[in-house]
Amino acid sequence: MPSGGTASWTPVRELLSLRTLPRASVRGWVSGKAGVGGVVFVILRDGTGYIQVSAKKGVASPEVFEGIRGVPRESVVEVAGPVREDRRAPGGTELVAEDFRVVSRAEPWPITRTAVTSPSFLYDMRHLSIRGRKSIATMKIRSEIMGACSDFFRAEGFTLISAPTFVQAAVEGGATLFEVQYFGKKAYLSQSAQFYEEAALAGLEKVWICQPAFRAERSRTAKHLTEFWMVEAERAFADQDANMALQERLVAFVVDRVLERRQGELDALGRKLTRPGLPLERISYDELRAAAASKGVEFAWGEDVPAEAERLVSMARESPFFVTDFPLSARSFYHMTYEDRPEVTRSADLIAPEGYGELATGGQRISEFYPLLQRIKSQELPPEAFSWYLDLRRFGMPYHSGFGMGVERITRWVAGLKNIRSASLFPRTMTRVSP
Ligand code: 4AD
Ligand code: MG
Repeated sequence: MPSGGTASWTPVRELLSLRTLPRASVRGWVSGKAGVGGVVFVILRDGTGYIQVSAKKGVASPEVFEGIRGVPRESVVEVAGPVREDRRAPGGTELVAEDFRVVSRAEPWPITRTAVTSPSFLYDMRHLSIRGRKSIATMKIRSEIMGACSDFFRAEGFTLISAPTFVQAAVEGGATLFEVQYFGKKAYLSQSAQFYEEAALAGLEKVWICQPAFRAERSRTAKHLTEFWMVEAERAFADQDANMALQERLVAFVVDRVLERRQGELDALGRKLTRPGLPLERISYDELRAAAASKGVEFAWGEDVPAEAERLVSMARESPFFVTDFPLSARSFYHMTYEDRPEVTRSADLIAPEGYGELATGGQRISEFYPLLQRIKSQELPPEAFSWYLDLRRFGMPYHSGFGMGVERITRWVAGLKNIRSASLFPRTMTRVSP
């Protein structure tokens, strides 16, 4: 067996593609065990996949046979032996153990069928339950999505920036702010990096960011976390039409990338994902309101779209779609409106099909000083709280737009997850800040 280093250990994924080898050494975790007659099987998991390891009584040495037979689940082991094709093995390949060593012996695995009495137990045990096949597949898809966003924005000439998470201005209203003590002053955890992106435009023109956002969200739904990651982009000299075009290109790029590189993970989750055809459908807030009413869900013009209305309209669709032209009363103060319709904003939500809900929100911002000051005053917000944000309009601010897309939201839709919690390795919700 190789000692130390990494050169002589073969990743499982490589073994599965090579299919036969006179001898290979692998190491990883015992993810499952079985025995029939005189043969014992272990499903060995490393960071790249799963492979069946077998030992036959009388063929393997007694130490190897007994070692494999007695090894507890989730122990870390090293195995070496010939690799051969076997149609009965999951993945079609098997390693026949000639050498076997336990590196770290595990205690009895606590997540048993009888122990799991509620979904919350799995989240109490999240530090262990993330080893499950579905969690692993989800995290690989999430990683692929974040990588795809990075590749997309790089190719489009955007600069990646960072912004503080201790802030003093409320981007998305005071109701969902987490307050923190900041050396005797009040500070908040950032809801969105949008204002910092807008400041960065003057030097960089096209920026994007991916970092945590915090919302003291009092809703216990399948789509709300209190801490989540957000991809945000902001562009100078771009109107709301250009903003939507950018978002739909991003979504198509992300889906293509996942289909191309993570089909195995989609299969493990039982998810059938298809690339949305572009352009994505655009329906107005007024049209959505009428469509919801025809299905029996009514709400007053000017209100935010109720979750049930959004769900009903999205169930009738197979691709994400934009809902445009939201009333100002349902939007944050910085939104630009139409000259001839001052009560309607140049904004849109990108909604996932099949009831997965909102993926992104974007819009064109007010780029002039007096109109923005006027808006802040008319909404009875304190102008001092937005002094530097207002300042940006005094020193050269072109028309501009941007959007924010929740990483766990898009992961949930792409991976087809029931609850957004599964899209986060360690989710934070109203009732959970541990593990
Ligand atoms: O719609 P939101 O609140 O928009 C903004 O924050 C803008 N300032 C973004 C911008 O224009 N730069 O949040 C943006 C996205 C939502 O569409 C949703 O995907 C996600 O962030 N999001 C959440 N994800 C999980 N849990 C929550 N509580 C979320 N709140 C928003
Ligand atoms: Mg929104």
